[in-house]
Amino acid sequence: MINNKKIRLNKNNGYYLPLFNMNGTVSSITPFFAGDLKKSYYNYALEPISELGMYNLTRQRNIIFFVNSKRFDLNGQLEHQQDDEVFYEVNQLSQIVTRSNSLFEIKTKSFIPVNDDVEVHHIKYKNKTNETQKLKAITSIPLYGRSPENIHDHRHVTSLLNVCEIVENGIINKPTLSFDERGHKSNNNYYSVFCFSDSMKVKNYIPVLDDYINGGSFLLPRGLDNDKYHVKDIVKGYEIIGAIAFEEVEVKANEEIVLVLTIGISENLDQIEKIKKYQDIAYLEEKYNETIKFFDKLNSYITFEFDNEERIEQVKWITLQPILRRFLGNSYLPHHDYGHGGRGWRDLWQDLLALIYSGDKTVKESIISNFAGVRIDGSNATIIGDKLGEFKADRNQIVRVWSDHGAWPLLTTKMYIDETGDTEILFIKQKYFDDKFTHYTKKTKETISDNNVMTYMNKVYYGTIFEHILLENLIGYLNIGKHGFTRLEDADWNDGLDMANKEGETVPFTMFYLNNLRVIVDILKNIKVDKLELFEGLIELLDGKIKLDEYFNLVSNYEKIDKVEIKKEVIIKRLNELIKIKESFISKHATVNNNFYQSYVNNDGKFLDDEKSMSLTAQTMGLINNIPSKDFALEVALNTKKLLFDKKIGGYRLNTDYKEVMLNMGRAYGFAYGHKENGAVFSHMATMYAYGLYNYSLVDYGHEAIATLLNRALDKDSGVLVGVPEYFNDRGVGKYMYLTGTASWIIKLLREQMFGIKLNYGILSFDPKLEANNFINGRASLETYIFNKKCKIIYLNEKNLSYGKYKIKQIKVNGQETIERAFNSISGTVEVILDEINWNLWI
Ligand code: G1P
Repeated sequence: MINNKKIRLNKNNGYYLPLFNMNGTVSSITPFFAGDLKKSYYNYALEPISELGMYNLTRQRNIIFFVNSKRFDLNGQLEHQQDDEVFYEVNQLSQIVTRSNSLFEIKTKSFIPVNDDVEVHHIKYKNKTNETQKLKAITSIPLYGRSPENIHDHRHVTSLLNVCEIVENGIINKPTLSFDERGHKSNNNYYSVFCFSDSMKVKNYIPVLDDYINGGSFLLPRGLDNDKYHVKDIVKGYEIIGAIAFEEVEVKANEEIVLVLTIGISENLDQIEKIKKYQDIAYLEEKYNETIKFFDKLNSYITFEFDNEERIEQVKWITLQPILRRFLGNSYLPHHDYGHGGRGWRDLWQDLLALIYSGDKTVKESIISNFAGVRIDGSNATIIGDKLGEFKADRNQIVRVWSDHGAWPLLTTKMYIDETGDTEILFIKQKYFDDKFTHYTKKTKETISDNNVMTYMNKVYYGTIFEHILLENLIGYLNIGKHGFTRLEDADWNDGLDMANKEGETVPFTMFYLNNLRVIVDILKNIKVDKLELFEGLIELLDGKIKLDEYFNLVSNYEKIDKVEIKKEVIIKRLNELIKIKESFISKHATVNNNFYQSYVNNDGKFLDDEKSMSLTAQTMGLINNIPSKDFALEVALNTKKLLFDKKIGGYRLNTDYKEVMLNMGRAYGFAYGHKENGAVFSHMATMYAYGLYNYSLVDYGHEAIATLLNRALDKDSGVLVGVPEYFNDRGVGKYMYLTGTASWIIKLLREQMFGIKLNYGILSFDPKLEANNFINGRASLETYIFNKKCKIIYLNEKNLSYGKYKIKQIKVNGQETIERAFNSISGTVEVILDEINWNLWI
């Protein structure tokens, strides 16, 4: 499997890699050993870093070597090391750094084992000269042992909690308490540094940072020979450093000295004993191979072979990204310094898109559990805990409503239904989320149910998944502003549009909700029931008997929430009426001079765009929701390319330059133009836009959009090590690596649109939209789960025809030709042979 990448570094490009295991131990690590290590938001073993921390090498991980008395650092920070040759190899998930000069080569392999909460570094120092060298080594690992909040808040006071013990080859700190936003809690974590070597004996330990620095600095410490501490000593109340110094040894020509450095976060002494096992290199290697195999398996749920080797390798990292996002959310990596763990509502649903493809049996359970986050007023919990179905209103009880939130669950659920044919999920009953907020969070109530679960007449109140979906989308549809578009509330997909909650309206999500009503109608037509159970108030809202405000009043008072049966046809009829009204409204009022879609209404009640300004979000949501006619879709594509396409920096920007800090729209426009939510090439939206273009078979445009984005990520100047970043800035530099909803959408785009694996209520068909240059020697393939079975689909395009010139000539399943074109079960290898559209006229 291709999942490693080796490059030569001649500078610090800002590359970093996450290392992690399923226990929640997470590192960020750079080829210069910057980055941090933690087990949760409250347990950072190494001081938390942000983006700039990647260039601050003095306070994270280092080993100071003295070679014939001259100092050389593992992290290469010294001036005379700047011409070292450095090779950087990244695997899923480990890094190997090889640093060499005329004197030595140091090769360091770093990983986090699958089961142990420790970062392991296997370091091999090799004397490259023909002469014996004198070598000394001292580790330099400041042990932070607290939460990011303490960097500037109680930094000193929290050092007074430290209780540090010196053990053979190790320094262990177990602070008495943990101070953080939750209050003062008894601390149960041991933060440790161990360093072992068969060829070197420990000379002295320096656990106290003051003694290590000793009037010098982090870069030039003056206390390396301090030998006042011995094994079994306990030191209390100081900043701790894992500084373990070894006796000088002789290293013969070509001889290798091996060191094992570990940094651990343990919950008990047994776990610390397990860390010590890593001094046995055979054990370490076994655990290393286990780690590589683990990620290889985890990331083998889908594999694409197309374009070229470089693309195949790139996509192999992209398919890992949703896995990382599922576990890390938007936290724990250098760019994601705003994250506190947990995940946001929108991301929760988007990350499931890729998981649905993985054949993971927990997907259904996750979808069902997630619906427990919906309030009966159509809003939802915003913070999702680490456990399935764990929701909170908001960390600080500052509640926001994102106008798009109600739209995403249906997209994910429909995809699950299409992949599996399982419409039964819609009739499963789920709870509603409840806290003090009512009326789309505009009001609060006195009585709150226990555990954030809505109860009625002393019993937990349930509704079907269908009911949850219907109410979310109906409310999104009806919650309109003065211009008739869905109210923007506190933002939509663009989190930066957060200052227009009075008059703001979102055109993009008006279109999304409209299409969701069409999807609901389609679902209703495809399920084999005549009647559905809904609560009375919802039916009245659907019928138009009550307005949204009245609905909010009713449900907040627990009125009209008894279930009644309603005929499916009645719902379909009413939804169709609503759909027609909005379709005609959109075609009349949602465009800028019939050239493209208008984006927003600002907080002054004015439309944002004229012919010279545009937001990609509106064009994307139009296309992915099949809103425009074919002709208008082409018009949109032409104009969007004119206004937003910038090939050099990765393709489609998020918006044109509004040239003002629009306080009547949101913080995004305080960002300099070309950055993040103000006009960067925002990968997630650019990918969804490409998806929308394929919807309309605008394959030239769609392919250009996605290929430009992917190619920018491969360009050395983009600073992207592997995978796709959240966005490219005005210089085309990638930011916010690994953790982005983009990855799920790229996989969806490749599988569904380019490779045309179409699933509709559990029926598979093929509709490839591959371009000639997507094929490698006439062949493009993917391996994926279909109907829960691994399946390899190979498209054969011998004549190297482009999209539009070919059609499916023949399908062979496991070597046997079949005349079927729609399948409800399949496994093994499927060859889909493409030939010219008029091939049968030629025979
Ligand atoms: C991030 C957030 C996502 C949000 C987007 C735009 O994007 O995670 O929820 O919609 O910013 O504000 P991502 O890169 O994850 O797609």
